[in-house]
Amino acid sequence: MTKRERHYDLRDLIQKIDDLGELSVVEGADWDLEIGAVSEMIAQENPGRSSAVLFDNIKDYPKGFRILSGAANSFKRLALVFGFDEPSHELDLVRAYRDRMVGDFKMIPPVEVETGPIMENVLEGDDVDLFRFPVPKVHELDGNRYIGTDDMIVMRDPESGYINLGTYRIAVHDKNTAGIWISPGKHGRFIREKYFAKGEPCPVLISCGQDPLLFLASHQEIQEGVSELDYAGGHRGKPFEIIRSKTHGLPIPANAEIVLEGLIYPDDQKLEGPFGEFMGYYASEASMQPVVRIERIYHRNDPILTLAVPSRPPENFTFARSVVKSAMIWEEVEKAGLANVTGVWCHEAGAGRLFNVIRIKQTYAGHSKQAGMLAANCRAGNYAGRWTVVVDDDIDPTDLNDVIWAMSTRCDPVEDIDFIRRAWSTPLDPMIPKAPYQSNRAVIDACKPFGRLEDFPITAEASPELRNKIKKKWPNIFNQ
Ligand SMILES: Cc1cc2nc3c(=O)[nH]c(=O)nc-3n(C[C@H](O)[C@H](O)[C@H](O)COP(=O)(O)O)c2cc1C
Repeated sequence: MTKRERHYDLRDLIQKIDDLGELSVVEGADWDLEIGAVSEMIAQENPGRSSAVLFDNIKDYPKGFRILSGAANSFKRLALVFGFDEPSHELDLVRAYRDRMVGDFKMIPPVEVETGPIMENVLEGDDVDLFRFPVPKVHELDGNRYIGTDDMIVMRDPESGYINLGTYRIAVHDKNTAGIWISPGKHGRFIREKYFAKGEPCPVLISCGQDPLLFLASHQEIQEGVSELDYAGGHRGKPFEIIRSKTHGLPIPANAEIVLEGLIYPDDQKLEGPFGEFMGYYASEASMQPVVRIERIYHRNDPILTLAVPSRPPENFTFARSVVKSAMIWEEVEKAGLANVTGVWCHEAGAGRLFNVIRIKQTYAGHSKQAGMLAANCRAGNYAGRWTVVVDDDIDPTDLNDVIWAMSTRCDPVEDIDFIRRAWSTPLDPMIPKAPYQSNRAVIDACKPFGRLEDFPITAEASPELRNKIKKKWPNIFNQ
């Protein structure tokens, strides 16, 4: 795939995904478990290369009320979404993102417009009914149907006016009440608490179908104070068009598919969950969580709900998340002064958070330690982490065989593993039974000992020259 015209909105993207040959259309699936299972199974089948799935003619719902799974979750689709060249390796994508961020990347604030497709249907009062949409029940043991998974929650800081985007799960309790679950330490939670501290309700917008650029900006741990809307606009290369919501004046993406507007009141809670979550478990039980009283629904004709399926990884969003998170860690550790980083990869098996590898070209004693500690503690790498592994430049950080070989042959477990204790985590971590939700981490230095770089035993393998010669002589016996 070479560089091509960027998509305009989700619908335009779906057309482009179809042109790529990466769209599967599934007709007649049931919102009750079938859509979740199909999405999960397709994502797990061929990680990084599986198709996006568009569900139509969903049981109990009119044709046209659709669900899209895994919009950006492949090599080709992610490159398409960001406008990158054809990637052949995970690190092509990571490098392209990191290069953009350290190059001439500019935040592009949204522009306000009077109206747009999202205004095609505006429902208020008795017409508000969340069951109008084919809200999926994702897994057998889930306690609710979830309208918000691949979503974007918009809130305004009552003090600074800063607009925050975050992805938080949104359960449907009844036709006009939704549950919202925000983990401790998230910006959205700080904002909500500020309203509650003043005894006021917190206004909120919930977008349940939107451009994956907005989803990717919402669910990454982007630096405090950075507007995710401007950040997503920067990656789009032009501003997102927004419309002010009717009651609270919050920004609605003009081309979003479904947006809910409402209020979260202090001391207004309902039992929410359990929900199978991104580490692959039901780690926290159903609990009392704040609710959103939905005042208004905005939606396009024939709306498309976007679906993320948290499950035993790889998940239908973890390839895209791994790329972006890897690039963000790379950018942040460099900003903190780390030299000679040549790759970062957050493995999908660790849900893109729990098993992260950073590769360096070792240049000074202590370099690898600095790399591991920074990668584990920078904002992008800190939340819900577990393992950070540092490898040398001859190791492919995306290849678990390579990484395990380095850990097995270049690492003295007694000397080369450090622990970080009581770091920022979440009730979703199966290893943490109760609050406060802090976890321990290991930073594994799997680099050759710096003092022995010159005399470390030579790797036993055919040289690149010999390999080339062999490939030329017997081209048909190798895959490529
Ligand atoms: C599919 C998906 C679902 C998520 N669900 C939640 C959630 O329910 N609650 C939560 O706190 N974080 C959730 N996250 C992670 C947050 O979106 C992420 O940490 C984000 O940076 C939070 O933004 P904030 O720090 O601006 O609040 C989810 C991420 C993804 C990819």
